[in-house]
Amino acid sequence: MTPEPKSIEPARYVRFSGVQRFEHLLLLIAFLGLMLTGLPQKYAVQEWAKTLLHFLGGIESARILHRFFALLLMVEVILHVGAVGYRLFVLGKGASLLPRLRDGRDLVNWVRHNMGSKPERPAMPHYNFINKLDYWLTVIGTVILIITGYMLWNPVATTHLLPGDAVPTARVIHSEQALLMVILVVIWHGYNTLIRRFNGSIWTGKISRSAMVSDHGEALQQLENGTQAAVLSPEQIAQRRRLYVPMAVVITIVASVLLYAFVTFEKTAIPTIPRPEVAIFAPQIKAAEGDTNVGAVVWATVRCALCHGADAAGGQDGVPALRGTNLSFENFFQQVRIGSDKMPAFRAEELPDAYVLHLYTWLTTSSKP
Ligand code: HEC
Repeated sequence: MTPEPKSIEPARYVRFSGVQRFEHLLLLIAFLGLMLTGLPQKYAVQEWAKTLLHFLGGIESARILHRFFALLLMVEVILHVGAVGYRLFVLGKGASLLPRLRDGRDLVNWVRHNMGSKPERPAMPHYNFINKLDYWLTVIGTVILIITGYMLWNPVATTHLLPGDAVPTARVIHSEQALLMVILVVIWHGYNTLIRRFNGSIWTGKISRSAMVSDHGEALQQLENGTQAAVLSPEQIAQRRRLYVPMAVVITIVASVLLYAFVTFEKTAIPTIPRPEVAIFAPQIKAAEGDTNVGAVVWATVRCALCHGADAAGGQDGVPALRGTNLSFENFFQQVRIGSDKMPAFRAEELPDAYVLHLYTWLTTSSKP
């Protein structure tokens, strides 16, 4: 390990601008929100996920919250593009986050140092390979999540352009990519900024000298030797800003209109998908052939009674009575298989055709519950 040089100068160096810190805060809120509302959807059958969903107000409310945080993330993306453009084109700073060959060398020397075969640490730049990995994995992951998220948010539009398989495929990619992001942020980023060496610079904007020595040695040398890249004069900056700001405003307005279209294009993913036309029941089944005793047992064991009442005489909130229903068996069957806004559909795996028939017979022929 390199012994720490005694600090002669002020111990804290500027690391992040106010805009960068604000961006990070937005990203953090969006990320935590997406994780909290997304993971329980991914693992909806697990007990912890059910508890969390319940706490979030149910799956529908979790989905709406997920979209709210997605919106926040996309606002941050627009802000980020504008801020990066400002640094590059107005302040004339270099694209210091681009990966370079030297990052590979730094990585190798970093590993060799950690394994004890190289006494000194690599002297790394302002953004070292760890920072660049954090950044680019986040950028690539976010792009993938936004594209696949759009497809899930607007499945009807998606299937106009792409084959129908694209939507379930997007779901798998969205869900697995999100998990990779959680691992990246919680394990890699969390370890590097909180555990390996606590680094609060994204909150304070400043970094300590010892952290500079260990993680950004080259940047520190340049600062102390006065050999950093030349800075533009205030006049140059003002001139560039006059050109950049109107352009950025136009681009931001266009991007915001697109974002608005993105989130309002289809009302919500699910209700706009037309309910499937159910193949009507097997023709050999005749309504009168059901068994009323079996029907009574089925009624007591499937969920119908929860809403329609234990004796099928109707439930709370105006759920209709089914006892002595006038519906034809066909309509009854359709209702059970397709459901409605307020009633879940029951599929054949849960309630076989014959059981629907027994239920119908019990409801129409027996007067007693
Ligand atoms: C979550 C509550 C809920 C459950 C569970 C439920 N239903 Fe319903 N059902 C409703 C509501 C509410 C309506 C009426 C409003 C609507 O159609 O949106 C309804 C309507 C119906 C109708 C149409 C009645 C008519 O007169 O038009 C039938 C038939 C029916 N349900 C059968 C069943 C059967 C059979 C089951 C069990 C396999 C069942 N329902 C389970 C809530 C439920």
